[in-house]
Amino acid sequence: MNKILAIDTSCDDSSAAIVDGQTVLSNVVASQNQIHKEFGGVFPTLAKQAHKENLEPAIHLAIKNAQIDWTKIDAIAITVGPGLAPALEVGINKTKELALKYNKKIIAINHIEAHALSPLAISKKLKNNEKKTNPTIKLPSLAVVISGGHSEFILIDKIGHYQKIGKTIDDAAGECLDKVGRLLNLGYPAGPLMEKFAKKGRAGKFIFPKAMTSHDNFDLSFSGLKTSARNLIENLEKKNKLDKQTIYDLALALQETVFEQITYKLERILLSPNLMNREYPKRDFLRHLKKGQAPLTEINEIWLGGGVSANISLRKAIRKLLSKYYKLSGKKIELKVPYSKKLCGDNAAMIGLVAGFKYSRGEFANAKDLDRKPNFEI
Ligand code: KG4
Ligand code: ZN
Repeated sequence: MNKILAIDTSCDDSSAAIVDGQTVLSNVVASQNQIHKEFGGVFPTLAKQAHKENLEPAIHLAIKNAQIDWTKIDAIAITVGPGLAPALEVGINKTKELALKYNKKIIAINHIEAHALSPLAISKKLKNNEKKTNPTIKLPSLAVVISGGHSEFILIDKIGHYQKIGKTIDDAAGECLDKVGRLLNLGYPAGPLMEKFAKKGRAGKFIFPKAMTSHDNFDLSFSGLKTSARNLIENLEKKNKLDKQTIYDLALALQETVFEQITYKLERILLSPNLMNREYPKRDFLRHLKKGQAPLTEINEIWLGGGVSANISLRKAIRKLLSKYYKLSGKKIELKVPYSKKLCGDNAAMIGLVAGFKYSRGEFANAKDLDRKPNFEI
């Protein structure tokens, strides 16, 4: 296959990786969490500065860890968007510089496409295991990308051909967890600690309203939930009732509400009578649905990606939904998740993975046209 050096500087992680087809040979992520912690979010000018310092060492390490040298690299893949413009710029400039210096082809990558395909990455440790190196892909699949910047449902009938059928109309799921987490002093990003705290929470102590259930579409919304959580926390603080156990209970309730909304819409997607036309299932029909009567969806696999996909409760909730759908329809749908936590969050290996597909289709970029696309849509 072709060996690709991949770079991602879309947000607050400087990452470089070497990928060979679907196999990840190295994946270096220099996190900036410590820098942005005190702001409770990413500070763009500081992110740019840190990328400038961290990117080159990350590239060197990625090449070293993959045990190759520049002569073995066929192309450089770079995230052009979406993301923070000053941050994207650092990676793009470095790519242009290296492509010129070493005479390499450039491949421009959409960061969301990379999260969407991240469950297809294969660890180099499994390289010689035939069964696992050639995981069959049964298309069409539905990519569920749940991160700090995005929450999207993407229908994939072939790799490189995408139809976005639903997305958040305001905050992303991870953003909601991070913002409420900040009010609870969980640090930044709050998602991982929220998951830990939720495990100690008592079910049913707090109930948040479920959003978007009255909207006949596959979109999501998390800003209302953020506001109700904020009001509740302020109230508890005033009454001096925000003790440790209450924070655990809140973490559980918040996480569950976020994930319930995702699985609620996912269920409607599976039960859609015509997904290509984004037809929403009728409410009456859903209520009276019996075993074996559900329409057969064209979706064969669900690919879960993005930072929040590391969360075990979210994976469990989706698996539960898929076994319910199996009972209703007789159709088995497989859930694919990235093989490591590192591959869930921002990382360059997923960029290299998409680049491998683009390489085989001959989709290269011109250095002079390469530019940032902060609002790049899939
Ligand atoms: O994909 P990512 O690294 O960056 C974006 O492209 O946005 O996602 C980061 C998001 C953050 O909101 C973070 O809190 C969340 O993923 N996250 C988690 C977990 N690990 C990271 N959320 C819930 N549970 C986790 N274990
Ligand atoms: Zn991301």
